[in-house]
Amino acid sequence: MTDHPPLTIALWLQQTAAALLPLAGLDVAISDVRLEARRLLGDVLDITPTALQLRLNDLLSHAELALLADALQRRLQGEPLAYITGRWWFWDLELEVAPCTLIPRPDTELLVEQALSLALPATARVLDLGTGTGAIALALAKAKLDWQVTAVDFNADAVALALRNQQRLQLHNCQIGQSDWFSALAGQRFDLILSNPPYIDALDPHLQQGDVKFEPLSALVAPMAGLADLQHICQHAPEFLTEGGWLWLEHGYQQADAVQQLLQAAGFTEVSSRRDYAGQWRISGGCFRAPI
Ligand SMILES: C[S@@+](CC[C@H](N)C(=O)[O-])C[C@H]1O[C@@H](n2cnc3c(N)ncnc32)[C@H](O)[C@@H]1O
Repeated sequence: MTDHPPLTIALWLQQTAAALLPLAGLDVAISDVRLEARRLLGDVLDITPTALQLRLNDLLSHAELALLADALQRRLQGEPLAYITGRWWFWDLELEVAPCTLIPRPDTELLVEQALSLALPATARVLDLGTGTGAIALALAKAKLDWQVTAVDFNADAVALALRNQQRLQLHNCQIGQSDWFSALAGQRFDLILSNPPYIDALDPHLQQGDVKFEPLSALVAPMAGLADLQHICQHAPEFLTEGGWLWLEHGYQQADAVQQLLQAAGFTEVSSRRDYAGQWRISGGCFRAPI
């Protein structure tokens, strides 16, 4: 093990911000090196921002310095902070995250907001397709303890990860299982179906940038200019929705028109889209009523 000379938190932050400087501008995830250094130290050593401010003159132990040196090396290679620390925040949940699936994004919280704004039965049955860490499903299960939430993913490692999150958070109104979209859900009906499926075109240059280049293509990329999974879900959702049930989907910022067309073609009414906080059209959805 390398022997690290004694260092205070303040000095470590200063040196680390300088070390990260070459990445700023190159890596879209690192826009503010001082903030990045604070997040790295806080997340690796589990120190809140307030506590960090009070401990700036504390000396870091050798064990802490070794942990931080390893984390900094990985961060300098561009690895996302969430994969280095293995945890990330979504809505009001701290989730375990892993490279088998996407790191939950703030944009996706719009789907949670939308779900909570709908007039659904008190004991609504809700389905989250492609659950990854379980982010959407677990946020809803926590917000609505009387809802019965089902969450599926086709990736066995993602299912195991979502189950660990569900068990740690003790959200017993959420069932998690493995399914290729609807394949394991025959005969079930839901009042609301949500999904943040893969929707990026395989040639999209964003796949080579920032955190995204460390995330699995199976969580990101879909054929047909990114629309194949969105189309599959729109086409099959009516078989799994109750009368008057809703489907809401996250999609790329240029895909709202295409997704609205997919929803209309599948028979959905009251089709609309919502913008994210950056002003981009981010989610679209509609209501299903069986033809008379
Ligand atoms: C964009 S990620 C979303 C993860 C999570 N819902 C979130 O918002 O953070 C897409 C997820 O869909 C899953 N997925 C991809 N193809 C699938 C399929 N055919 N059936 C079920 N899940 C699938 C991936 O494994 C991945 O976890």
